[in-house]
Amino acid sequence: MYKKIIRPLLFDYDPEKIHNFTINRLSGSLFPSLLKLFLSFEDKRLQRKVGRLTFRNPIGLAAGMDKNAVALAGWDAMGFGFAEAGTVTPLPQEGNPKPRMFRLPKYGGIINRLGFNNAGADEFEKNIEHVKKNLCNDFIVGVNLGKNKHTELDDAYQDYKFSFEKCFETADYFTINVSSPNTEGLRQLQQKKFLNEILSSLQKLNKELDTTFSDTMKDIYLKIAPDLTEAELDDILQVSIDNNITGIIATNTTISRDTLPEGIYETGGLSGKPLEPIANSVLKYIIKNTGNKLAVIACGGISSFDDVKEKLDLGASLVQIYTGLIYEGPGMIKKIKKQMIQNL
Ligand SMILES: Cc1cc2nc3c(=O)[nH]c(=O)nc-3n(C[C@H](O)[C@H](O)[C@H](O)COP(=O)(O)O)c2cc1C
Repeated sequence: MYKKIIRPLLFDYDPEKIHNFTINRLSGSLFPSLLKLFLSFEDKRLQRKVGRLTFRNPIGLAAGMDKNAVALAGWDAMGFGFAEAGTVTPLPQEGNPKPRMFRLPKYGGIINRLGFNNAGADEFEKNIEHVKKNLCNDFIVGVNLGKNKHTELDDAYQDYKFSFEKCFETADYFTINVSSPNTEGLRQLQQKKFLNEILSSLQKLNKELDTTFSDTMKDIYLKIAPDLTEAELDDILQVSIDNNITGIIATNTTISRDTLPEGIYETGGLSGKPLEPIANSVLKYIIKNTGNKLAVIACGGISSFDDVKEKLDLGASLVQIYTGLIYEGPGMIKKIKKQMIQNL
């Protein structure tokens, strides 16, 4: 029904307008209740313990879909095991000029150059606090952190610390986003000296806040780009291990167009099917070179059970989906989970 009737209707309109329309529907209570009615399906055999958390199933919503954490009840109702809200920056910002989101229906891809449009950490935190009481107890909420556009790279760690502290009580885990291609200079934060400063200062804060508010530290994941050299990846993995973070999210969108036929494309990050082979080779590299020292949340190009299986078989602990949800519709999560059970 989604692919035959709803998708063709939605795809007639501007992608960002449809995105905002959908998020608005999901942030009310009617839509999540309806989704729950049709899509609820959990099975204890899908549970996974990763880091300090137990996920009811390994399928998560990737960051960027719910930038202000307003639709968490919707993702819970769709049957995701977890959702990563954000990217949130300390101060609100508008992002890049529109249009800035483009579908590539022929290739199952999307190009976006949104540039961290979001309402800022104050509002984000209030939103999570407000919806959290309506979520199932076993639904996990990750918070994806970024820096504001005008923050200098040398001061970037302060931005991450600010939002980390603000959301410490409400987040189940944190992701440090140093890999979006649409904020100038952001990916330079993947360099050893910046990365070490960010991760070490966050882990120090993590320890301090642990004693103040709760009885456990929070898991920290690092989200990386798919466009790194092996030497760059080696540095990132070493700094991650040295700082004792829980794992890596592989990957964010790519600036490469090598997996698309020759042509002229919009600038921005490419996601979906054309990203899949690139993201999978990064996943393979991480597993081969770190063993079980870092958990990996695999992301990039998932649109079916087979895609999930491939990533889990390669060694991922969990997976995340963004573009596949737009092409396949909300029913895909239940379908994948049922196939996972059949394949046990
Ligand atoms: C429109 C759009 C916006 C995104 N915004 C963010 C973001 O704010 N933060 C982030 O870490 N990743 C963001 N991403 C990247 C996704 O989280 C994901 O890493 C990437 O799209 C690959 O997964 P997919 O092929 O399933 O879409 C965005 C992706 C898209 C398509």
